[in-house]
Amino acid sequence: MNKLIRISLLVFIFTLLTYAQKSETDLLRNQVKFPLGASVNADMLLINKLYHYVANKEFNSITAENHMKMYRIHPEQNRYDFSKADSIVDFALKNGKRIHGHTLVWFDGTAEWLKNFKGTDMEFSNEVKKHIQTVMKHYKGKVTSWDVVNEYLSQNGDSVRDCIFSRRMGKEYMAQCFLWAHEADPKAILIYNEYGMEWSEKKLQAMKSIAFDFLKRKIPIHGLGVQFHVKTFDKEEQIVRTLTELSKTGLKIHISELDVMVNGHNQPNAVYTDSLKQLQTEKFMLIFNAYRKQVPAKQQYGITFWNIADNDTWLRKVYKINEWPLLFDDNYIRKPAYYKVLEKVKSY
Ligand code: XIL
Repeated sequence: MNKLIRISLLVFIFTLLTYAQKSETDLLRNQVKFPLGASVNADMLLINKLYHYVANKEFNSITAENHMKMYRIHPEQNRYDFSKADSIVDFALKNGKRIHGHTLVWFDGTAEWLKNFKGTDMEFSNEVKKHIQTVMKHYKGKVTSWDVVNEYLSQNGDSVRDCIFSRRMGKEYMAQCFLWAHEADPKAILIYNEYGMEWSEKKLQAMKSIAFDFLKRKIPIHGLGVQFHVKTFDKEEQIVRTLTELSKTGLKIHISELDVMVNGHNQPNAVYTDSLKQLQTEKFMLIFNAYRKQVPAKQQYGITFWNIADNDTWLRKVYKINEWPLLFDDNYIRKPAYYKVLEKVKSY
């Protein structure tokens, strides 16, 4: 056996032994009163046993980090590729987990062919409808809820985002997408997912008014997704307000992509110091507390982390940032923050 394999095997065995000593009451997911989720990557589930083990053990709701996005699942106009997303769905169903679909319409997850589509606006809309309905029908009865539209608003929330969908279909495109989604799977929980309300009051108010407007017009919306890619310096008051204000809509509230960045200013030589760990732990505790207090129980759709362990985080890969934003360290061991949150949740 070469050295690397030997070391990985030892780490794996060590982690399993650590887990074996824990009773089921020591699992965060068993102590919270709502689903606890993580987004996952299909390849990691397949190749990394620890990843698979922790995803299965610690979470009861699963989101595909990327494999249900349009550029992956519908890469050409007349070709769908469900293979990777199906493998995530199989994993989740086999292990009795809820599946949250992410995401049907997102400017940044759009397939190239649709961005470059040469047909008329009417034909473009028709392609969007076909996409939404084909994907939803494929997963009907398996996927419980969908982020129908992701990131509808502009960066600071003062308008609808200027993107291929608003240009081709008009600013009202989101309402139309919800209607098509509801038609495809009337039982699915339909969610509008957004980011940035924890630092922009304007964006928070915009999201809230859209939700109220949809309800008034009987557009079938059932939930609001709050991404919460939070930074240690984000203000406590605005995090709490986000949950309080959005709860007023009566819709389900999903913290849909949680991570807490300790290197929010992107310092190239950042170190994960004890004081940063402390600030991060406090933020995680604040978020779990606020979710319990501000969101009525029947509206709590769950808290979903954006992947499993620190070395799986999108922040390292996409932004090349030194980050440690999750509850599991690079070896899939629970970090002290996990135990602090667990302790807090147990004390309720
Ligand atoms: C990110 C993934 O984590 C990355 O792997 C991918 O390269 C880009 O997308 N908001 C969202 C998610 O709604 O879909 C994004 O996921 C992160 C920001």
